[in-house]
Amino acid sequence: MLVSSYSLVVTILMTSQSLGSLYDPHLFPQKGPFFEGWYMRIIDYDSNQSYGLLFGSVLPTDSHNVSGPLVLASILMRRCEQQGGCKLMSVNGEFSPINLNITARGKQVTKNPDTRSPPDFKWMVNSKNNGGYLEQKGETTTFTFKLGELAFRGEATKPVPWNSAGTGPEGWLVYLPLPLHWFVYSLRSELQIYEIENTTSGAVVSGSNGVVHLEKNWGNSFPKRWIWSEGVSSATNATINISGGLVELFNLFSVDAYLIGIRDPQNSLALDLRPDNSVVSAKIDGCGGRINMSVNSISYNVEIEISAKAGTYSNCLLGPEVVGFRPVCVESYDATATITVSTRSFIPFLFNDEKKYTIANVALEFGGSHVCNDKCS
Ligand SMILES: *[C@@H]1O[C@H](CO)[C@@H](O)[C@H](O)[C@H]1NC(C)=O
Ligand SMILES: *[C@@H]1O[C@H](CO)[C@@H](O)[C@H](O)[C@H]1NC(C)=O
Ligand SMILES: *[C@@H]1O[C@H](CO)[C@@H](O)[C@H](O)[C@H]1NC(C)=O
Ligand SMILES: *[C@@H]1O[C@H](CO)[C@@H](O)[C@H](O)[C@H]1NC(C)=O
Ligand SMILES: *[C@@H]1O[C@H](CO)[C@@H](O)[C@H](O)[C@H]1NC(C)=O
Ligand SMILES: *[C@@H]1O[C@H](CO)[C@@H](O)[C@H](O)[C@H]1NC(C)=O
Ligand SMILES: *[C@@H]1O[C@H](CO)[C@@H](O)[C@H](O)[C@H]1NC(C)=O
Repeated sequence: MLVSSYSLVVTILMTSQSLGSLYDPHLFPQKGPFFEGWYMRIIDYDSNQSYGLLFGSVLPTDSHNVSGPLVLASILMRRCEQQGGCKLMSVNGEFSPINLNITARGKQVTKNPDTRSPPDFKWMVNSKNNGGYLEQKGETTTFTFKLGELAFRGEATKPVPWNSAGTGPEGWLVYLPLPLHWFVYSLRSELQIYEIENTTSGAVVSGSNGVVHLEKNWGNSFPKRWIWSEGVSSATNATINISGGLVELFNLFSVDAYLIGIRDPQNSLALDLRPDNSVVSAKIDGCGGRINMSVNSISYNVEIEISAKAGTYSNCLLGPEVVGFRPVCVESYDATATITVSTRSFIPFLFNDEKKYTIANVALEFGGSHVCNDKCS
C-alpha cells in the first residue's frame, strides 16, 4: 500500500519538471536545513587499493545550535594491518562557509543545475592549513586536496552515466520533494592518474589503471537510517549500486525505500529497481556487516547479498546533519557482493535465464540507526 501511494505521488509530480545535469551545484535556499555533498571513489585495478574523497557543506536549521563543522572535506583510505584486514579510515579537513567558494560556469551559483548542459563547476575550500578543489568541466574531473598530512590529486575522464535521461538512479523520483536526493554522475569514469602523498613520511602512492565512481547527494539531511553500496567487477565491468533508507514523505508516512542499479554491459543488462517498479524485502545487519535483499519486479527477481568482515569497517565517519557534519555512519571498502538476477518468463510463469555475479572491493555503508548498536549517534 505504501508503495502504491508513493507511485501516485510520483505520477502527480513528474510532469512539472525537466531534466538536468544534476552533478552541478544547487542554489542553497535562504533558510536551512539544506546540504549538498559530492563523493568520489577510485578503484586502482593494479593494486586493488581504493581511495575516497568526499566534500560538502551544510546550511543548518538554526545557526545558534551548530555542533559540527558546516563545511567538510575528507579523504577515505584503507589502512592494512598484517592481520585483521584493511580498516577504512578518514582524514578530515573542517572548514567554515567563509572558506568555501562554489562556482558554476566560472560564476557564483545563482540557479539550480541547468537542463541538458554538460557539467561545469568547481568546489573549492581554503583555510590556513588545509584546502583544495574538485573541478568538473565537461567529461573531465580534476581534483587536488591537502587535508591533514595527506595530499591527494588526480584526474578522470570519459564518464559512464547512470542513464541517458540524465536523471540518475532516482529516475523521475528525482523530482519528488524527498528529504534526500542521490545522483550518480558516473558509474566508472576512466582513471587517468592519481597520486596520494603522506606529507609527513614522504611516501607517495600513484596509479593510472582503474575506475572512478562519481556521485552526490543533496536535500535536507540524511535520513534516520540508511545503507549505501557500490562496486564494479574488474573482470566483466558489471556493477551494483544501492542506496536506501527511511524516507518520510510530507510527514505523512515513512517507508524504507531503495534505489538499486545493476549493469552488466556484456549481457546488455541495465536494471533500475525503484519503489515505483519493484518490491524489496531486506535484512539489514549492521553488526554482522551484511545486507541481504530480495527484489521483485514484474520481469525480474534479484537476490543480493553484500558483506564485509567486521575489522574492515571504519570508525564513525562524518555526514551532513541539520546541525553540521556529525559522526553518522561506518563504511568498508572490502565488501563482496553476490547478485543473482532471474528473468521471469510468462508462459509458464516461472523464472528462467539466471545470471550470477560476484563483485569484490565493494563499498558498503551503514548509516544512522542501521549502524551496529547505534554507536555513531
Ligand atoms: C585484485 O582483486 C582481484 C579480484 O579479487 C584479484 O583477481 C587480483 O588478483 C587482485 N590483484 C592484486 C594485485 O591484489
Ligand atoms: C536548534 O534550535 C532550534 C531552535 O532554537 C530548535 O528547534 C532545534 O530543536 C535545535 N536543534 C537541536 C539539534 O538542538
Ligand atoms: C571563487 O572562484 C572563482 C573561480 O575560480 C574566482 O573567480 C573568484 O574570485 C573566487 N571568489 C572568492 C571569493 O574567492
Ligand atoms: C555502481 O557503482 C560502481 C562502482 O564504482 C559503478 O562503476 C557502477 O557502474 C555503478 N552503477 C550501477 C548502475 O551499477
Ligand atoms: C603518515 O606517515 C606517518 C609517519 O610514517 C604516520 O605516522 C602516519 O600515520 C601516516 N598518515 C596516514 C594518514 O597514513
Ligand atoms: C570494461 O570497460 C573498459 C572501459 O570502459 C574497457 O576498456 C574494458 O575492455 C571493459 N572490460 C570488459 C571485460 O568488457
Ligand atoms: C544472508 O544470506 C546468507 C546466505 O543465504 C545467510 O547465511 C545470512 O544469514 C543472511 N543474513 C541475514 C542478515 O539474513
